[in-house]
Amino acid sequence: MNFKNELLKKITEKTVRVGIIGLGYVGLPLGLEFTSKGIEVLGFDLDKFKIDSINNGKSYIKHIAEERIKKAVNSNKMKATTDFSLLPSCDAIIICVPTPLNEHREPDMKYITSTADIIQKYLRPGQIVTLESTTYPGTTEEILLPLLEKAPSVQENNPAEKYIIGKDFYLAFSPEREDPNNPDFNTATIPKVVGGITEDCVQIACALYDQVIVKTVPVSSPRVAEATKLLENIYRSINIALVNELKMVFERMDIDVWEVIEAAKTKPFGYNAFYPGPGLGGHCIPIDPFYLTWKAREYEVNTKFIELAGEINTYQPYYVVEKVSEALNSHHKSLNGARILVLGVAYKKNIDDVRESPSLKLIEILRDRGGVIDYNDPFIPKLPRTRKYEFDMESIEITKENLKMYDLVLLSTDHDDYDYQMIYENSLLLVDTRNALKFKGISNGKAIKA
Ligand SMILES: NC(=O)c1ccc[n+]([C@@H]2O[C@H](COP(=O)([O-])OP(=O)(O)OC[C@H]3O[C@@H](n4cnc5c(N)ncnc54)[C@H](O)[C@@H]3O)[C@@H](O)[C@H]2O)c1
Repeated sequence: MNFKNELLKKITEKTVRVGIIGLGYVGLPLGLEFTSKGIEVLGFDLDKFKIDSINNGKSYIKHIAEERIKKAVNSNKMKATTDFSLLPSCDAIIICVPTPLNEHREPDMKYITSTADIIQKYLRPGQIVTLESTTYPGTTEEILLPLLEKAPSVQENNPAEKYIIGKDFYLAFSPEREDPNNPDFNTATIPKVVGGITEDCVQIACALYDQVIVKTVPVSSPRVAEATKLLENIYRSINIALVNELKMVFERMDIDVWEVIEAAKTKPFGYNAFYPGPGLGGHCIPIDPFYLTWKAREYEVNTKFIELAGEINTYQPYYVVEKVSEALNSHHKSLNGARILVLGVAYKKNIDDVRESPSLKLIEILRDRGGVIDYNDPFIPKLPRTRKYEFDMESIEITKENLKMYDLVLLSTDHDDYDYQMIYENSLLLVDTRNALKFKGISNGKAIKA
């Protein structure tokens, strides 16, 4: 039996049931888009806290309004579970699990492989599976496809029989382009690239995403879709490295890199503005380029350009610490023993995500060099444990009196909530890694840019 028409009918009639595996920054908003269009979603995660939160109509991500979850749950369009034996009840399964690097900075594929194993166990004929996690080109065809083709239920009936891709099930890759809390774009308004193993796979996957996404962009294969996502993030990593390098060169020449960027931005073509900072952060830019670097080795190719960008970006927290030391030195103080308040630990402004945040690296280096460190972040009351760090720290309130207790205030993440004028007026010494004071129109005479 060919399931294509049946699936397409369910999709267009919105009776398709979507299972989403991994309900984090990507999976949760995607699920809510489906429910907002009247499509039923069953969310799967290993994290019981997330499951209970969803089922109780609670949000665990700052920029995702509780109302949206409540509405989805109360209308019986969304449920969440840790019970993967419910996978066969879904017509479409979308995988949104993490793809970090391991301690050797190589792809850590365990979340994808364990998810693939579980789907293999429960795959039923007629399902479409799409992978959204950022990964190296080849993942869908080399990891998911062979596992799903060997799914047991067909074999139980007839051990010689295999699930046939494009006939018994469908498989595609469609990279997530989520930019949390971006005021201009959200899950629904960012076009989605889709690469399927067969023509029917891409057609069904596009039809599914067309229900919720403004535009789908079919490409010829999953590996093209996988490579597209990497190109986008490598482009960002390299351009950020470029301005970080220029920041260091121009500083020596007494040229303000931010002023240069603002001027260059006025060119109406051929230039996109990227900004320097204390280092790369988040789940994507510091990690994804190395998925390609790793895979390229299999083809005996060195990705020198990508690695060089990584080197420059990785150096940035150390550069900031040098600036901190110099600033303290100019006040006859040493970093060893200095009280420093780090402002902002989220990896970018106005969000509550600390993954790969350069602020954590800054805290580590400053502590190693004898600094006595506190932090403030309006969105992160307590530093969570991450794969790399386990700081037992709570956010310090910002008051005039508190600010004055610190030898130096280090502005690492430029949240809009900060009262920059007050911070500026009450800090003894301020190092600004984001040019935040200037952007807010505050005279930054005593602030040091880093
Ligand atoms: N966060 C972003 O802005 C963003 C943007 C674009 C792409 N991505 C990519 O999307 C993917 C997911 O990222 P995220 O930010 O949503 O991650 P996340 O850590 O916020 O969420 C992943 C979820 O998957 C769950 N999970 C892990 N293993 C599981 C398993 N075997 N079964 C079920 N659930 C499991 C985790 O508990 C977690 O809730 C990654 O590949 C990431 O690179 C993320």
